[in-house]
Amino acid sequence: MFRRPSAVPVYRPDIYTRAAILDPYPHYRALRELGPVVWLPRQRLYALPRYAECKATLRDDGAYLSGHGVAANPLTNRLSRGTTLNSDGTEHDRRRKLVAHRLLPRALRALGDDVEAQARALVDDAVRRGTVDGVDDLATALPLAVVPDLVGWPREERAHLLDWGAATFDILGPANVQALTALPRSLQMLRFARRVVRERNVLPGSMAHELLAAVDEGTLRADEVPPLLIDYIAPSLDTTVSAISSALHLFATHPEQWQLLREEPQRLANAVNEVVRFQSPLRAFTRKALSERDISGVRVPGGARVLVLYASANRDEREWDTPDAFDIRNDAGRHVGFGNGAHACAGQGLARLETTAMLQALIDRVERIELVGEPTWAVNNIIHRHEHLPVRLVPA
Ligand code: HEM
Repeated sequence: MFRRPSAVPVYRPDIYTRAAILDPYPHYRALRELGPVVWLPRQRLYALPRYAECKATLRDDGAYLSGHGVAANPLTNRLSRGTTLNSDGTEHDRRRKLVAHRLLPRALRALGDDVEAQARALVDDAVRRGTVDGVDDLATALPLAVVPDLVGWPREERAHLLDWGAATFDILGPANVQALTALPRSLQMLRFARRVVRERNVLPGSMAHELLAAVDEGTLRADEVPPLLIDYIAPSLDTTVSAISSALHLFATHPEQWQLLREEPQRLANAVNEVVRFQSPLRAFTRKALSERDISGVRVPGGARVLVLYASANRDEREWDTPDAFDIRNDAGRHVGFGNGAHACAGQGLARLETTAMLQALIDRVERIELVGEPTWAVNNIIHRHEHLPVRLVPA
């Protein structure tokens, strides 16, 4: 067992309590002020709260491994064996190449019209109703209408998808009550994925169908398919729900930014980056240090776990001029909200497509987005997103 070297600053508050999950930014600021590497005694993790060290660690995947899991607890790291997320080197390349090409911009072009039409229909309906829940009626409805079909998840078995996906993120945090409560629902998802593969109950032409075809050709084992399905279905909903609902919330609370975006819609791609920078959907994942490392003058022992705090890096005062201001004119493209390096988000093209389609549909039809009640935030060890967001869409 490794020991904390005395030179590393310590942060004793638990960044995974309910209160800290709901309002993480003061903790991130305190961590950044303490140094480039901060020891979290409760979780026995070396936290990296600043941008430079997060990015460098993500890019050095030979020294900071994902193959022993990226969760903050050993049980989930065992459970997530077989996923792309939890793999290194050539094995990671092999897994990623199996289906990730279906989410590259060229492949997504065919999907673009459909996603835009779905977004327009949802916004039309919301404008007609006037007041809606931005989370349920817009942010959740779009990914649910698009991604399960793309992955090939059986149509009759989608009622639990959101809940299972959220639970699968929750258990990637530390082994707190939050994670332990989520465990049975995440296991249900894994069991169900195994059944889908056993019964070959997948949609024709989908990603899952392509994986089963690889099994038939003898290039993939059947038992490799369920974790690969989880790889894509689990992160495909809550993450994008976060980005879309945060966009709605930020533009409702920054009406001058909404006005600017409507006047200069060429800023849309950067606006999506700014939303992901400002309210990063994923808080943090871990890596395991292969051997002793020096991180900005701090010695981290071999075998230690470092916590890559994407959401803190994206607010680092050392990297961003005005990190706590939401401004679509910020040069936000270099954020690490989608990760970086070999494991950078395989679904980011799709997430960008959905968020852009939703914002474009709103730009075309909505003069103002107004909050009509107190928004609430979901409690999840990994995902930072609204639970409810009562908004009124004022038509253009
Ligand atoms: C706004 C939405 C999203 C955000 C913020 C996000 C964020 C991330 C981040 C930070 C990582 C890096 C993990 C690491 O460093 O270990 C990641 C990986 C991944 N994401 Fe996303 N994600 C989003 C949407 C999606 C969607 C829609 C899909 C699939 C349909 C997806 C599939 C994946 C996969 C398969 C990986 C693992 C890649 C690998 O290990 O090589 N993500 N995502």
